[in-house]
Amino acid sequence: MSMKLSNGKEIPIEMHKTRMIQKITLQPVERRLKAMEEAGYNTFQLKTKDVFLDMLTDSGVNAMSDNQFAAMMKVDDAYAGSMTFYDFADSVKDVLGYKYVMNVHQGRAAEHLIAKVFEKPGDVVPTNYHFTTTKVHIEVTGGGTCLEIYADEALNTASTHPFKGNMDTQKLRNTIKKYGRAKIPFVRMEATTNLLGGQPFSMKNLKEVKAICVEHRIPLVIDGSLICENAYLIRQREKGYEDKTVAEIVKEMCSLADVYYMSGRKNTCVRGGCLATNSKKYFGMISPWLPVYEGFYTYGGMSQREVAAMAVGMQEMVDPDVAGCSVEQIKYFVNKLCEAGIPALTPPGGLACHLDARKFVPHIPQSEYPAGALTAALYIASGIRAMERGSISMERDKDGKEVYADLELSRLALPRRVYSVSHIEYAIDRIQWLYKHRDLIKGLKFVFEPPVLRFFIGKLEALDNWGQDLAEVFKKEMGDR
Ligand code: F0G
Repeated sequence: MSMKLSNGKEIPIEMHKTRMIQKITLQPVERRLKAMEEAGYNTFQLKTKDVFLDMLTDSGVNAMSDNQFAAMMKVDDAYAGSMTFYDFADSVKDVLGYKYVMNVHQGRAAEHLIAKVFEKPGDVVPTNYHFTTTKVHIEVTGGGTCLEIYADEALNTASTHPFKGNMDTQKLRNTIKKYGRAKIPFVRMEATTNLLGGQPFSMKNLKEVKAICVEHRIPLVIDGSLICENAYLIRQREKGYEDKTVAEIVKEMCSLADVYYMSGRKNTCVRGGCLATNSKKYFGMISPWLPVYEGFYTYGGMSQREVAAMAVGMQEMVDPDVAGCSVEQIKYFVNKLCEAGIPALTPPGGLACHLDARKFVPHIPQSEYPAGALTAALYIASGIRAMERGSISMERDKDGKEVYADLELSRLALPRRVYSVSHIEYAIDRIQWLYKHRDLIKGLKFVFEPPVLRFFIGKLEALDNWGQDLAEVFKKEMGDR
């Protein structure tokens, strides 16, 4: 939650205490430069021994609760019919309101099953915005095309619009008219929109989208990987929801989906995922494929220990102190950067603090990957590992041509219950230092590029060896660290 201090300022306050820790180290700047070179200027390729604050992602790296650890001690390890799975199914019914549920090994496995079962080649799938793995499954597994039906404001990185994750309903109607219902296997709403900067959609918008889907008899799929943050922001920003609980809002959102899936690695703080529905028909279409790709019906590729922890995580995720822990830290982080004149994406969302690379390093053209360069520079200047969310995270088109991203972002994710305000203060300070020296940052070029999801293992090189210049200036001004 957020706490008002006597001087009128607000700080995010952790409603938990740390009872187990992991030591982290800040390597000297020479080592950081070397590590970045070894990693091919790709932060996915760094080893954690070289990382000080790991803000790459909030996925699979959240702090679990004591109750989750306790649940992992007492599980029913069975291939088939495990009671641990039925406890999980009870949690899903209770929190999300779905009768039928399947575990999957992580969120993208659910995307694989949905694309496989619902799509046929040539289909189009309207989304409020794509996520990397979703788009690949819609297009490679399903053979369709992923369409982005976002509101114009979504691409404004200096906005005050409370719901930049909204789908543009007029554009959705036009899309249905253009392609026809038979070519649209489902409409997908992502709560919150990861690649737009963790921006939420409103309940009003979700209801409008649902009404259009009902009118045209098209199933609505919700990706609820960050549903609690979306619900927390609805509570803060949408009229009529200020007195509802996060739990009530989550349930209302879920009641509008025909098929729901989530990565469990975010909200539920475990390694896994699930797919759920109230439709016997859809369950019957998807479930036969579960043992083929994931595992038997009562574990779906997860260990029973993780299933047990996920059952508890599902209950805990709607606690406003859990749903809001990252949201409040992100708000603090983003607001302080904006006050210092740094181009951070606004309004603060539910996933991370994002730097707008187009404004931070406007001298780097998209063909030289400004967000990738900024992300690499931030690591050299601070030991903080962020993630490129720009053109490197895009796939080339069928002819091998670059497809430039709508937004060039460097994402500093805040895993739940992991980092403190002093870590955020350190990040703000080093980002300010980097902003002052932004002219030292130049572009990148690929030296190795895999055929798919290149952002994971691709290797790049700094043009004119700018990493070295940046490290030298840092050392002169700041010393080793
Ligand atoms: N959907 C959304 C909205 C996501 O953010 C993610 C993962 C997935 C699906 C896929 O889930 O990783 O469990 O297979 N996002 C991570 C991230 C990887 O870093 O933002 P997964």
